[in-house]
Amino acid sequence: MCGIVGYTGQDEAKDILITGLKRLEYRGYDSAGVALECASPATPGAPASGVTLSVIRRVGKVAGLESELSAFGAPSACGIGHTRWATHGRPSVANAHPHTSCNGRIAIVHNGIIENFAELRAELERRGHTFASETDTEVFAHLIEEAYEGRPDDPATGEPARPGSHDLMTAVREACTQVVGAYGLAAVCADEPGVIAVARKDSPIVIGRGERGSYVASDVIALIDATRDVVVLEDGQFARLTPEGITYTDAEGTPIEPAVTHIDWDIDMAEKGGYPDFMLKEIHEQPRVVRDTLVGRMVGGELDIDELGLTMEELNLIDRVYVIACGTSYHAGLIAKNLIEAWARIPCEVEAASEFRYRNPIITPSTLVVAVSQSGETADTLAAIRDARIKGAKVFGITNVVGSPVARESDGVIYTKANKEIAVASTKSFIGQVVSLTLLALLLAQVKGKLTTGQVRMLFRELGNTAEQIQWILETQGEAIHEAALACKDAHSALFVGRGMGAAIAHEGALKLKEISYLHAEAYAAGEMKHGPIALIDQGFPVIAVATKSPVYDKTVSNLKECEARGAQIIVVATEGDEEIRAIADHVIYIPPVRDAFSAITATVPLQLLAREVAIMRGCDVDQPRNLAKSVTVE
Ligand code: AGP
Repeated sequence: MCGIVGYTGQDEAKDILITGLKRLEYRGYDSAGVALECASPATPGAPASGVTLSVIRRVGKVAGLESELSAFGAPSACGIGHTRWATHGRPSVANAHPHTSCNGRIAIVHNGIIENFAELRAELERRGHTFASETDTEVFAHLIEEAYEGRPDDPATGEPARPGSHDLMTAVREACTQVVGAYGLAAVCADEPGVIAVARKDSPIVIGRGERGSYVASDVIALIDATRDVVVLEDGQFARLTPEGITYTDAEGTPIEPAVTHIDWDIDMAEKGGYPDFMLKEIHEQPRVVRDTLVGRMVGGELDIDELGLTMEELNLIDRVYVIACGTSYHAGLIAKNLIEAWARIPCEVEAASEFRYRNPIITPSTLVVAVSQSGETADTLAAIRDARIKGAKVFGITNVVGSPVARESDGVIYTKANKEIAVASTKSFIGQVVSLTLLALLLAQVKGKLTTGQVRMLFRELGNTAEQIQWILETQGEAIHEAALACKDAHSALFVGRGMGAAIAHEGALKLKEISYLHAEAYAAGEMKHGPIALIDQGFPVIAVATKSPVYDKTVSNLKECEARGAQIIVVATEGDEEIRAIADHVIYIPPVRDAFSAITATVPLQLLAREVAIMRGCDVDQPRNLAKSVTVE
């Protein structure tokens, strides 16, 4: 998630902004910048307010921005700052925030995604605005400018002229009415020195009053030194900060008195948003990842993955898909295989990149290679991409890091919009990968005429519903997961089983458990048990099964009965309402009813939480497991 800071008061703003941005560095970013209100020279034509905005932006670390600011001598008591994790537009100075209006008198920083930025940008450009970046955010700067300064008649649409508000807070409220999407926004205007206008919808904003000024940030950690009494702005609320105080209004401009929250977290807890570790924080971010990854993907009733870089005709010629990846990303590929073959009816092979790159795979011009990588820098996956391209394949990347080597070396790329994933164990990025691969499967099926537009729309809606289903699991299954963890924490090994989609999910569950709790775990297709693995079962041996309602549910239950008969401790992820399963399971963790095709998005969540609980019970470091790195940039 990007980071926002803002200050207006009696002290030097740039020092406060840099300190705040440094506190937000842990969240991951690729560029940073500030906008400072400075006295303008008293020359003819100088602005009446006597103030201009100085915008300083850098790619790379906040330290680089800090060193550039150290040479910036002009004093400033009001400013805003931002650390950017690129989602629209590569990391660059031009794409870094703050962004400014055409006249340079308004600057804004923004967290979130503007879904309708393309049409807004087209309208603004038609009305004469010029854009300096590729970002969705810059649209806000020009919308606020139009609302502040007013706009002339629009002959193209016949819309009459609109007078300007010449009030920043009013202009921000007006701009927000035109935006569809999520925003945490802070804006300054050189014609209103000392004022910061703030808006919030679906992206966190906290505001606080210190002894020497007013503060805004996207995360408590950035203002905790100034005050522990903060207002957590709610959706549709606005704030106007001045050196003297803060006023709050609703969308209509009516004054409101939001509640004040006292923060008693320490710095470490604040970095994790109040969660005990990054892994739990990131698991809880998964509903947002589903929503953000789907933003803008259904335009005018049609699926939109134009980053693919392939025409519909080229897509239609695809007769084989290879998904190449490592670890958890490989498991996302197993799920993609089920979907692509079920819906598009073309062969899909999933292969560890470390194998693919050395075995001289059969590639033809009608082969689509999909490279999946959270970090976008896994050495084996990169090598496999290069090999595939040499052999003439089209390569499509799915990654979480804008401008990463996987993104740069693929013909097209989808970004999973999970924001920085800090815990070594991949969770939210996996969910983003599965959602993105589901979109690809839907597109292939539609292009090949295997699914109608209506069916795709219906499936897209159901896909979006998984966000609420994950939220239900997070809110209701904690106790069941805790009990299941107690039951298996002292085991020496565990078996994860499932059939169909459940088998793929079982593989991810086994990896999560072993990589963070060091409890050995393997995954098998449940039908394989009698071909060897069942020899492992003795009294109390944990068998963790994915037995959600599916075409192979009964077969899975039969396999579990064979395990139960030999004394296994049976833990099951099942569909809410399934009481039958309780006859053989020692512990049941429920997920809401869901189409089998989407069950991986929801049924994986209990296994993530189970692995984390067991790891904690075994005294392991949940965020930084031994021997592991967040990205494996060597073979
Ligand atoms: C998963 O929890 C691990 N962190 C690991 O298996 C990871 O998925 C694998 O190293 C691939 O990383 P990538 O997605 O960044 O390419």
